[in-house]
Amino acid sequence: MSKVCIIGATSAIAQETAKLYAGRKDSLFIVGRDDARLTAIAEDLKIRGAASVNQYALDLTDISRHEDMIDTAWSTLSGIDIVLIAHGVLGQQDVCEKDYSEAARVFDANFASAASLLTILANRFEVQKSGTIAVISSVAGDRGRKSNYIYGASKAAKSTFLDGLRGRLQKSGVQVLTIKPGFVDTPMTKEFKKGLLWAKPEGIAGGIVKAIDKKKDIAYLPFFWYWIMFIIRHIPEKIFKKLSI
Ligand SMILES: NC(=O)c1ccc[n+]([C@@H]2O[C@H](COP(=O)([O-])OP(=O)(O)OC[C@H]3O[C@@H](n4cnc5c(N)ncnc54)[C@H](OP(=O)(O)O)[C@@H]3O)[C@@H](O)[C@H]2O)c1
Repeated sequence: MSKVCIIGATSAIAQETAKLYAGRKDSLFIVGRDDARLTAIAEDLKIRGAASVNQYALDLTDISRHEDMIDTAWSTLSGIDIVLIAHGVLGQQDVCEKDYSEAARVFDANFASAASLLTILANRFEVQKSGTIAVISSVAGDRGRKSNYIYGASKAAKSTFLDGLRGRLQKSGVQVLTIKPGFVDTPMTKEFKKGLLWAKPEGIAGGIVKAIDKKKDIAYLPFFWYWIMFIIRHIPEKIFKKLSI
């Protein structure tokens, strides 16, 4: 039985992941900003078999409360085996281009809040000398595209932070997993037209649990995004800057 903390637990991908851990009879601690939704999710997870489900409501951009939240999760679960950080916002690229305060909102939600959480968690996992820190980043962080470079930059910063943290924690036996989904059909992408490359949150959740079980460092989900991003990263800049993507 594992002790699992899910931060950003109201996300569609996080909810599906939590269901898989509930099915394994794990103990869960779920965090999000909407207490009523957390309560409904907790009830569902208990029905699905979770050994216990506790919840903590906070806006994750309020970094002054991170220490207390992690302290509460750590003592409620008596240590954490797996933490998944899932929250994020897409932001509006066109608004960000005209108004930095919108870009700052994206950077705060996607990067600064995660960096604060990871700083606190890393120090605890380093002492515990075991466990998994898994964070949802994005393929969008692999190369800046003109259509969403603010979101992409926030995810690139997150992925780079995790690369370094992985190096720091490997000698402590702590897994640091960067999860890079491609297009996923969730509330975040409800306005987008869906096509062949789109995945369902259930499939991404299965990939997350498998990557944690296999002690992976980086997981592109579904796997074919590794090859798509390999090609995209290698397009010469002279050509890339002219593409309408
Ligand atoms: N969907 C995709 O195509 C895709 C692709 C690559 C990566 N991702 C990443 O996957 C992760 C999960 O997203 P999703 O696709 O599952 O979309 P989602 O269902 O819209 O989940 C996003 C979650 O982030 C939460 N959140 C945002 N800001 C928050 C804050 N300040 N405090 C607390 N919670 C906050 C939202 O809470 P509320 O419900 O309260 O607003 C929501 O639960 C995100 O990091 C996203 O960037 C998604």
